[in-house]
Amino acid sequence: MTPDGLPNHYTRREVLAAGAGAAGALALGGYGLSRFWPDSGEARPDFVLRAQPETIELGGRKASTWTFGHGVPGPELRLKQGERVRIRVENALPEETTIHWHGINLENAMDGVPGVTQAPIPPGGSFLYDFVPPDAGTYFFHPHVGTQLDRGLYGALIVEPRLETLAYDREATLILDDWLDGIAGTPAQALARLRSGGMQMGGMSGMKGMGGMGGMDMSGTPTPGSYLTASGQESAWGSLPGLANLLQQGQLDAGDIRYPLYLINGRPPEDHASVQVRRGERLRLRVINAASDTLFSLAVDDHSLTVVASDGHEVVPTRTDALVIGMGERFDVLLDASRPGAHRIVASALGKGGRAVAILRYLGASRSRAPAANAPTARRARVVSYADLRTVEPAVRSAGAREVDLPLGMDMHKPYRWTLGGQAFPKAAEIAIARGEVVRFVLENSTMMPHPMHLHGHVFRPVGVGPHAPAKDTITVSPMQTTAVEFVADNPGGWMFHCHNAYHAEAGMMRVVQVAA
Ligand code: C2O
Ligand code: CU
Repeated sequence: MTPDGLPNHYTRREVLAAGAGAAGALALGGYGLSRFWPDSGEARPDFVLRAQPETIELGGRKASTWTFGHGVPGPELRLKQGERVRIRVENALPEETTIHWHGINLENAMDGVPGVTQAPIPPGGSFLYDFVPPDAGTYFFHPHVGTQLDRGLYGALIVEPRLETLAYDREATLILDDWLDGIAGTPAQALARLRSGGMQMGGMSGMKGMGGMGGMDMSGTPTPGSYLTASGQESAWGSLPGLANLLQQGQLDAGDIRYPLYLINGRPPEDHASVQVRRGERLRLRVINAASDTLFSLAVDDHSLTVVASDGHEVVPTRTDALVIGMGERFDVLLDASRPGAHRIVASALGKGGRAVAILRYLGASRSRAPAANAPTARRARVVSYADLRTVEPAVRSAGAREVDLPLGMDMHKPYRWTLGGQAFPKAAEIAIARGEVVRFVLENSTMMPHPMHLHGHVFRPVGVGPHAPAKDTITVSPMQTTAVEFVADNPGGWMFHCHNAYHAEAGMMRVVQVAA
C-alpha cells in the first residue's frame, strides 16, 4: 500500500501472505486448508486469489460485497512478459466462479470461461491458472460468471515488458467502476429487475431508435458539445468525442442501471484516492474501465495527457485532454507534472450525471486544495478517437478477410434479451473459423446504446482507419453506427466475443468464436 492507501504495489509475497492469511481465518469457518494446499507436491503458485464475501467501506457507508479479501479493487498483479505465472484462485463464495485474464492472449484452457474453457470452480474449490503472457501492457482480471464482475471481484493485471521503451519517472493505476453492490441491492437483483421490466431505464429503452433511425448510419453528423476532436474541431457522430457529447446531452441511452456511486480505485469522491507526483516528473497512468454499465470520460484538471497505449498495446504518442473509455477498455497515458498543487482526476459517468474523482497531488504541496469534487471541469476538452491512434508495429495487410456480420441488437419479443448476430447466448451457434484465417467482424449497432465489444484470446484492429490502425481487444461501437474489426485467428480454441456491459453479456450479447486447432 502507498501512504494514500492506493493498492498499487503489492509484491508477490504480500499477495501470497494476504491469501494465506485469509485462508487461515476461513479454515475455522469450514474451508479446510488441505482442500487448497494438497500434499501432492504441486508447485507453489506465484499468487493466490481467494474470492470471498467481505464488508467494505465506501465513503462512510458499509457495503457487503464479494472481493479478494482486502477491499476493492483486488490486488494489482504484476507479471513479466514471456514468463510463466501460476495463479491459484480459491472460491470461498457461495456460488461458482472463474477468473478471466482480460486481454491476455493465453492458451485457451486458461481463459476462465465456465462451460467453454473449464468447469466452473465450485464453492470451496480452487483452480490453478498457469500461463505465459506474451505481450506487455495494462490488462485486468475478473470473474466470467453471471454479473459477478459488478461486485468487487476485479483487479489490475500489469505485464511488465522485457525491455521498457517508454521513459517515465513513476506510474499509477486508475481503475474506474460503477458501484451498487451492497448499497442498492446486488447485481443479480438488478438483472432480475431488468428482466421483469421494472427498472426505470430497462425494458425497451435500448431500442427507442428502431422506428425512425434503425439501420441509418449517421456518421459525420455534427455533435456540438464540450468534447472536441483531437485537433480541436467540433466532433461528429461516430467519433468518440461525438459519442460523449450525445451521451452527456441525454440523446442516447447511457446504460441500463442507475448507480449510487462511481469509484476510482475503490474510492468514492468524498474519500478519494490520491496519486502523488513530484514537479518535473513524467507520470504514467494506467487507466482501466472495470465498470459494468458505464462509459467514462477521464481528464486531469490543468494537465493534458499523451496516449501511449490502447488496450495494452503501444501506440504512437498522441496528445489529448480527455479519454473516452468503454467498459473493458484500457488506456496508458503520460502526464508531465508541471503544475504544482492538488488537481482533480475526474472520471465522468457519461450520460449518467455522476462522477468518480481522485486527486493528483504534488509532493510538497500538501496545503493546496483541489476544487470540490462536483465543481465544473474544463469547458472544452479534446478527445482522441480510434482513428487518431496509430500502432507502432508495422502496417498490416487488409485484403482478403472473410466478413462475418454480427449485428448488435435486442430481441423485441423477450423481456430483456440482447443479441449478437441475431442470436442470444447461450442459445447461439458457435462462429467457426479456420486457424490462421483473417476474419472481419462487421458490427452494426441498431440500438440507442453504445456497446464495448471484447474478443478473447486475440487482438483485432478497427477497419477503415488506415494501415496503422491500433491493436485492441475491446472497441466501443456507437449507437446507429457500424464498426468493423479485423483479426488473424491464430489462437486455437473456443473464445468469447461479447459486449462488455455485464448485463448485456449475461442477457445474451455474447457468442463463442471457435478457432479450429
Ligand atoms: Cu473482460 Cu469476456 O471479458
Ligand atoms: Cu452492450
